[in-house]
Amino acid sequence: MTIDLAALPHDFLWGTATSAYQIEGAVAEDGRSPSIWDTFSHTPGKTAGNDHGDVACDHYHRWREDIALMRQLGVDAYRLSIAWPRVMPGGDGPVNPKGLAFYDELIDGLLEAGITPSVTLYHWDLPQVLQDRGGWPERATAEHFAAYAAVVAERLGDRVHHWATLNEPLCSAWIGHLEGSMAPGLTDLTAAVRASYHLLLGHGLAVDAIRANAPGAQVGLVTNLSTVHAATDREEDVRAARRMDGHTNRWWLDPVHGRGFPADMREVYGVELPEREGDLKTIAAPMDWLGLNYYMPATVADDPSGPAPHVREVRRIGVPRTGMDWEVDASGIETLLLRLTNEYGARRLYVTENGSSYPDVVRPDGTIDDPERQAYLEQHLAACASAARKGAPLAGYFAWSLLDNFEWAYGYEKRFGLVHVDYETQVRTIKGTGHRYADIVRGHRELARRAA
Ligand code: IFM
Repeated sequence: MTIDLAALPHDFLWGTATSAYQIEGAVAEDGRSPSIWDTFSHTPGKTAGNDHGDVACDHYHRWREDIALMRQLGVDAYRLSIAWPRVMPGGDGPVNPKGLAFYDELIDGLLEAGITPSVTLYHWDLPQVLQDRGGWPERATAEHFAAYAAVVAERLGDRVHHWATLNEPLCSAWIGHLEGSMAPGLTDLTAAVRASYHLLLGHGLAVDAIRANAPGAQVGLVTNLSTVHAATDREEDVRAARRMDGHTNRWWLDPVHGRGFPADMREVYGVELPEREGDLKTIAAPMDWLGLNYYMPATVADDPSGPAPHVREVRRIGVPRTGMDWEVDASGIETLLLRLTNEYGARRLYVTENGSSYPDVVRPDGTIDDPERQAYLEQHLAACASAARKGAPLAGYFAWSLLDNFEWAYGYEKRFGLVHVDYETQVRTIKGTGHRYADIVRGHRELARRAA
């Protein structure tokens, strides 16, 4: 498939992404304390096969090998997350020097390899000690998050310039506190709405904390957004799609863009926000960039008896789906990039995650051919390039994920990696899609070089 690579800026950042709990393992090493994901995944029945992140990809010990893989892929950048419970095992308490030292060395290793680190401070692994004190539904958690952000920014800010506060607050709030299929596993609307508020407050506080401790930092937020379609043109379903858009997209985008929390959704939730004077301004702290994680669209119908936002997802038939059973619709990424540009005035955008899981077969010669994943990558990159051609200020793309890893409630069953991981031996093998990604990156560099 042709990708209009010429539409992308010459200094476009080509990257891959991972997160701490999904790859690091070493959960009890060097002073790390348990996170809510250790607790959740060790609770029987919460994850497929009762899988957990105790060992995962053993990246804590194998990070040098993983940097070598990134070099083979030829990427410019690597998006990683820092494990809060490694750095501050008490949640708000003293700093654990060994925890910080791990990231210090990792960052140095990346820079030596010529790879730009992009650091996310929170990818869902809240220290369990803070959950025991109420977690994100409590305001104190947002304040502790900012204190932790300050510590990490101060230590790494001389070398890390690209920072994200939170990854996908939607999942932390809605899936973790309302749907219950992610840590901490609650099904409580009030807790979920309060968590959403404090996550965004923590984001705003952390933006300031990062800037204060890492001069020159480029700070952003990583959101997972979806295009939303009404299942039919019945008025009830059209209204349901509007609510789903509010729940998935506007609830997160409006406040960080200074528009406050959407009034229609406040009504839908009917939960009083724990607002204090000045909070909305903090939440709307100016950002340098916005991250879009895109995987699939949503089609919904009205469901008055269901929990807020009172919609039911409708499975469209005759459309392609990934191994997660997620609909493949590359046009969604273009639509969202353009919406962020035209409706929210984005000045710099990154696709901070995009990718697909399909069952992989290792051939007798050890290679992995994954044409469906490759087609997904190409279609989505083509859509990104098309958005850039139409004016979206897209500055980079991070493929999810560098490695197969612990896919949360799905355990190790689902594989998103550009690199296959054999969890028995920890042997890593670049898949066909990884090789194709390397070709695309090379192709774009060549274009940029010729044009310079
Ligand atoms: O693996 C996750 C990641 O942690 C957050 N975004 C979606 C990915 C695929 O489900």
